[in-house]
Amino acid sequence: MNRQDLITKIKEKKELSGLSSKIVEEELNKETKNIDLASLSEKEIKVIIKSVRNSLRKLTGRFQYTSKKENILDAHASTKERKEDYPFLKSMLKDLNVQSILDLGCGLNPLALAEPSLEYYAVDIKEDELKIIHDYFKLNNIKGRAFFYDVRKIKDDLPRTDITLILKLFDVLESKGHKLAEKIINHIHSKHILISFSTKTLSGKPMNHPQRGWIEHLLARLNYKFKMLARKNEIFYLAERN
Ligand SMILES: C[S@@+](CC[C@H](N)C(=O)[O-])C[C@H]1O[C@@H](n2cnc3c(N)ncnc32)[C@H](O)[C@@H]1O
Repeated sequence: MNRQDLITKIKEKKELSGLSSKIVEEELNKETKNIDLASLSEKEIKVIIKSVRNSLRKLTGRFQYTSKKENILDAHASTKERKEDYPFLKSMLKDLNVQSILDLGCGLNPLALAEPSLEYYAVDIKEDELKIIHDYFKLNNIKGRAFFYDVRKIKDDLPRTDITLILKLFDVLESKGHKLAEKIINHIHSKHILISFSTKTLSGKPMNHPQRGWIEHLLARLNYKFKMLARKNEIFYLAERN
């Protein structure tokens, strides 16, 4: 099996099919550095496919697909869990007089928050969801863009906006340490950053200690003042540069 066939095979799983092939290839390359794929047995190839899929699943987050088209926000566990909090988020954006938003690892979140009065820049690595958002923006005259961007390689090339949203992203990006979170925050040039974390465990049970002490220390060290806003399923940190 050549590299391209392997990428296609890995993407056969429904929950990975929308991922950019570039991301799949990078993950595959990490696992098969210096290995000649042609020399591998069928069994070894299977192990590699399984392992790459597992790594990719960590990036894509939890999924629940639904056949109900009219309720697309329910297709994504993140937006579904947040449904009752969207009015709260919208009024927060209004109170902060936000005119422009950068949404990192956006998922389907822009479908709930974008409005023609806001400029919205939505980035993710899932091309299928970016396409849905792109079409939605076009149809609803939303200013801005939805585009592929791997935040692990963040540079100073992202649009400068009033607020940057980092919703339920950090837990997906790193399981050990918080170097990447620091790098990302250091490359953000918005007045406000809204960071959130799920307050449920992967099995859906409420966490005993949903507060993330590490982000509080990091924000303080990077000279941000912040407030914590705890909701039923999610904990938000609204940070402002001092
Ligand atoms: C748990 S979901 C949260 C989605 C959305 N922010 C929300 O709260 O509804 C995590 C999202 O981060 C995206 N993601 C994961 N790794 C990424 C990366 N390296 N760069 C950009 N987006 C990434 C996933 O594709 C997924 O849409």
